[in-house]
Amino acid sequence: MDDKHLAVANPTFGDRKPKRSLRGALLWRVLLLVGSFALAKGLLGALTNKHASPRHELRVAPSDPEAVWDDIPPSTVDSLSWVSCYSGKECARLMVPLDYAKPDGPQAGVAMVKIPSKYGPGDEKYRGPILFNPGGPGGSGVGFIALEIGDSFQRLIGEEFDIIGFDPRGVGRTTPQVVFFPDEAEAAAWRIRVEGDPGLNTSADALPRLWARAQVQSAIAGRASSHASPYVGTALVARDMLSIVRAHGTDKLQYWGVSYGTILGATFAAMFPDNVGRLIIDGVVDADDYYAGTWANNLQDTDKALGMIIDACVSAGPECPLYESTSDKVHARLNAIFTNLKKQPLPVYNGTTGKEYGIIDYKLARAALFALVYFPYGVTAMTPIYTSIIILHALAQLEKGDGLELGRILGMVPVQAPFSCNCPGEPPAPRPIPLANLDATIAIACGDAAASRGDDTVPILEEYYGQLSKISEFADMWPIRISCSGWRTRPVERFAGPFVANTSFPLLIIGNTADPVTPLAHAWKMSHGFNNSVVLQQDSAGHCTIAATSLCSAKAIRDYFREGKLPQNGTICSVDSSIFPSNALTEKLQTLEGEDREVMGAWMDISAAHKIPMLGRVW
Ligand SMILES: *[C@@H]1O[C@H](CO)[C@@H](O)[C@H](O)[C@H]1NC(C)=O
Ligand SMILES: *[C@@H]1O[C@H](CO)[C@@H](O)[C@H](O)[C@H]1NC(C)=O
Ligand SMILES: *[C@@H]1O[C@H](CO)[C@@H](O)[C@H](O)[C@H]1NC(C)=O
Ligand SMILES: *[C@@H]1O[C@H](CO)[C@@H](O)[C@H](O)[C@H]1NC(C)=O
Ligand SMILES: *[C@@H]1O[C@H](CO)[C@@H](O)[C@H](O)[C@H]1NC(C)=O
Repeated sequence: MDDKHLAVANPTFGDRKPKRSLRGALLWRVLLLVGSFALAKGLLGALTNKHASPRHELRVAPSDPEAVWDDIPPSTVDSLSWVSCYSGKECARLMVPLDYAKPDGPQAGVAMVKIPSKYGPGDEKYRGPILFNPGGPGGSGVGFIALEIGDSFQRLIGEEFDIIGFDPRGVGRTTPQVVFFPDEAEAAAWRIRVEGDPGLNTSADALPRLWARAQVQSAIAGRASSHASPYVGTALVARDMLSIVRAHGTDKLQYWGVSYGTILGATFAAMFPDNVGRLIIDGVVDADDYYAGTWANNLQDTDKALGMIIDACVSAGPECPLYESTSDKVHARLNAIFTNLKKQPLPVYNGTTGKEYGIIDYKLARAALFALVYFPYGVTAMTPIYTSIIILHALAQLEKGDGLELGRILGMVPVQAPFSCNCPGEPPAPRPIPLANLDATIAIACGDAAASRGDDTVPILEEYYGQLSKISEFADMWPIRISCSGWRTRPVERFAGPFVANTSFPLLIIGNTADPVTPLAHAWKMSHGFNNSVVLQQDSAGHCTIAATSLCSAKAIRDYFREGKLPQNGTICSVDSSIFPSNALTEKLQTLEGEDREVMGAWMDISAAHKIPMLGRVW
């Protein structure tokens, strides 16, 4: 484990060790997946310490690295002061108006972390800040940059730039925070009930139940987060980005946003077209659909992504755990596993430990497959990790009637209680700061949506679900619109388009061939509105470019930031990583020299370390 993290932080590509023992490799795969998946499901706290702590011990200082936020002096746009944090990084808290229409009113405190440029602001080589948003909504930019990809990203783009992560309003260390429940125990109790609800379409009352739950959640949230929810809308965060840029003494934003981060980026570009320095949107959401709150067209390419995985399984041969001679047969085998689970969930009990128990049902197993279409490619840090093998192997175990493996991957078979309460008299344990705040996901996405979404009734939603089912077999994994019913809070400022502008620098707009939730068509659609923007297509499945390793995409992004160079409109970048085990990536790396080798290495580390919050996932 230690080696892997050292490799991420400090890679020496020539020395990458060959494959380790299968057991070691498998453990890593499982840990990686638990990481991404738990994040998506808001289950980070449910992981055992045994699993969770090594990741963090190596990445952050031994004492609580988050404590620094208590001591950071507030900065203003006119005077930004940084404090050292997260071993070698710098942190600041920028005070901005909670409501920009009331500049002298109450303030929000935006938490920012910086991987500083090697050159000071006075130096002619200094190229200013690049801001990031990791998606969600609700993803923490501080976590993404400080704990995951910031150093690798600076290696990719260059030391002339400051790399900045910030927690958007409502999220992480930024104030105000969106929190629906007063303590972790009550939040966990609610979460367990949500998780126990049947999956959409598994019973006649599943959707009505989700609607009813959303009504209750909206009511709880309306009361508990009334100080925060009106101030977390995307238009306000776009203004915050302009404030951050101005605090750096410039007027032009340099930005890379993935997934929901493309909504933030497009909103900025449409609101402030003259303030665009460089702007990349990667894994593009249709902003009109997002702001309407209809969530109607995200799944256009989801089945195609699954199809690519299935085709790769057939090509991989028996190494694929669900291998069959044709794609149709693999698909049929998968479907049979799920059909059986619908009829009969699998009880899990490990009699040896007596501690691992639970039920693997249709909804959970589908969620695992859905996670795979987000992250289908193998990543190579020290040891290659293939999510395809991990998930499909666990599904093959289900086929045999054994659900323990999938339960372990999902963190759903409790190894320990999902929360612990302090004994009386003990100081409260520090509340962990997750990489994504799912309460904020709801507050931001539901608040940004058209007010009429709050009135969605069960018949309207049944109709919606029927339409969605025609688009994708993963319709049951897409509950966010339903979860927004009953939501009444709207942001004090809302920008819902039009998304058209002559920006002061053309946007680079990126879509994957088969992205499960941000289809390629939306990259083209958004490009129509932004004059002179260019679309780059990464020829892969998965969510956003960093789901796969592509030297071509990596260089396009680097050249855009460094040289202002845009690829030809419609350029297609092939990928170097593979869905099933192969040596192609390592072999390609061996052939590269100089800058290409450095760029590829940086991108491999980004791919291996990232955990993009899954767009709009709320269970
Ligand atoms: C699942 O959805 C389809 C399409 O809307 C519908 O025809 C079917 O009855 C649903 N099944 C259940 C069990 O709800
Ligand atoms: C129960 O857990 C132990 C320890 O991880 C493991 O060795 C054993 O195989 C598990 N039992 C079953 C039935 O899976
Ligand atoms: C962009 O500029 C052209 C003229 O150069 C103008 O006709 C057009 O209306 C502008 N578009 C927007 C959205 O401002
Ligand atoms: C790229 O193609 C899109 C879609 O046809 C178009 O809207 C955009 O203007 C093109 N960009 C350039 C620079 O030609
Ligand atoms: C796009 O920008 C060009 C200048 O680069 C301008 O001549 C043209 O009118 C603009 N088109 C639109 C549709 O705004």
